[in-house]
Amino acid sequence: MLFEFYPRGLCSDRFGGFRKVSFKVKIALGCDHAGFGLKEEIVALLKNLNFEIDDCGTNGTQSVDYPDFGEKVSGLVSSGKVGRGILICGTGLGMSMVANKFPNVRAALCNDLFSAKMSRLHNDANILVLGGRVIGKDLAYEIVKTWLSTPFEGDRHLKRLNKIKKIEENLRTDGNG
Ligand code: RB5
Repeated sequence: MLFEFYPRGLCSDRFGGFRKVSFKVKIALGCDHAGFGLKEEIVALLKNLNFEIDDCGTNGTQSVDYPDFGEKVSGLVSSGKVGRGILICGTGLGMSMVANKFPNVRAALCNDLFSAKMSRLHNDANILVLGGRVIGKDLAYEIVKTWLSTPFEGDRHLKRLNKIKKIEENLRTDGNG
């Protein structure tokens, strides 16, 4: 399995354009207490695969608030400081809600392999969200590897992503879309 990003495809950049790239990008990870165990497993997997990572915490099982960690990772992806993010809370729902508030972020909650693959092929998802209380380590490993190795298909899907970008721009300028 090749972990090159977008080997044949297109990458959205921070300014809303698209360009061809093929390189390993830095991955930011964040979780709350309910995602901590799985986050540690995924950090180990990514280190083993030689990915550069930015572990934004949390770093224990003490109760914390998922928006604080979702905000850190989403901000890094939104600004283009890292190429991809992985967020984990209990269900993945709260982290998804936080991440998708950020411009340029396309966060996908994928607790199954098909969603992980499609979130890349059709949606060019740049944040993967997992439910630490929903899936176990083995499935999470397969989901992460699939998500990191599947390119964006572009074509008609690119037109749709540009429509999402337009909605973001309209909301920024009018405040009501
Ligand atoms: C924490 O108890 C839990 O609410 C959180 O991890 C997450 O599942 C929220 O969506």
